[in-house]
Amino acid sequence: MHPALDTLLLAFSAEDGPAIPARALFLGARPHPSLRRWPEITGWQPLKPLADEWERGGFQRVDAPSGRWPLVMVLPGKSRDETLAWFAMARDHLLPGGRIACAMSNTAGAARFEKEFAKATGTVTSIQKHKCRAFHAADHGTWNEALFNEWRELGTPRFIPETGFITQAGVFSHGRVDPGSLLLAKHLPAHLHGHVADLGAGWGYLTHIALDRCPGIERIDLSEADSRALACAKRNLARHARDIRIHWHDVTTGLPETYDAILMNPPFHTGQDTDVDLGRAFLTTAAAALKRHGKLYLVANRQLPYEAQLDSLRLHWRRLAEDGTYKVIIAEKRT
Ligand SMILES: C[S@@+](CC[C@H](N)C(=O)[O-])C[C@H]1O[C@@H](n2cnc3c(N)ncnc32)[C@H](O)[C@@H]1O
Repeated sequence: MHPALDTLLLAFSAEDGPAIPARALFLGARPHPSLRRWPEITGWQPLKPLADEWERGGFQRVDAPSGRWPLVMVLPGKSRDETLAWFAMARDHLLPGGRIACAMSNTAGAARFEKEFAKATGTVTSIQKHKCRAFHAADHGTWNEALFNEWRELGTPRFIPETGFITQAGVFSHGRVDPGSLLLAKHLPAHLHGHVADLGAGWGYLTHIALDRCPGIERIDLSEADSRALACAKRNLARHARDIRIHWHDVTTGLPETYDAILMNPPFHTGQDTDVDLGRAFLTTAAAALKRHGKLYLVANRQLPYEAQLDSLRLHWRRLAEDGTYKVIIAEKRT
């Protein structure tokens, strides 16, 4: 169950709550049994594992929201700019007279974001339950459009100064190159060749470095869960006239092909929680997808216990480098 979504749906079941409309758009969509009773609901979800969950629940999904709706519901992402940009996206897809309804956990800053939302909409109705807040407002033609315009800007892809790379609010390492990936880049050898995969490729930094440095790479496959990061990666990698394939894919479900080398800076967060099992699942996928004598290059925070996982996957590993925060490991599949 999802406490913020439970709270959001409570707002619609309250006696004095808003009516369930004939059609609704759901940004950051997550499935819920009671949504099955809604006449029509279309979801947008940029994260592949969650998009799959939404579709498995039997709900309709779009790659990019379009059109206007009498109700737009929002379960925002993690960052401030992303959340405000999603409020603006909701506004862009609202029919005149329609309603925006959002919900967030208190620890994600629900009270603060409700205040921000109220600055744009004026009156807001709010309920609190399950350590979350749901808040909603109807558009009577009096909303502060200038503020929505500001928030929309926060969500547009932007260049990282002096790099030529673009990123977008909400994607991993927005507005900077990740220092762990920088360390891996420093130690990536020029002899990588053949078929290479970049797992959890984000906006394409490691792929860019590999293509710049390694003329022997015949093809590189990027697998990444966040469709917005992949849209940035496509633009960031357009300068390389090479065979680059981009996959919106949940790496924990495995890979259909095998590789001579795999690069990664594995994720270890799900939402706001630390999730070392996610990083471990990346290692398991990589071990299965390496060819014999294939090599895995990985960077991780020093305290993450990946060495034991590499041992249990029968990969032969050694540390290539470390600094005060990160370690770079090379692992080989020998059998
Ligand atoms: C630590 S970041 C590294 C990003 C990029 N390689 C870089 O160096 O900037 C990990 C990436 O894994 C992605 N990710 C998280 N869970 C995933 C999953 N199940 N399948 C594929 N990618 C995932 C995240 O969206 C994030 O972009």
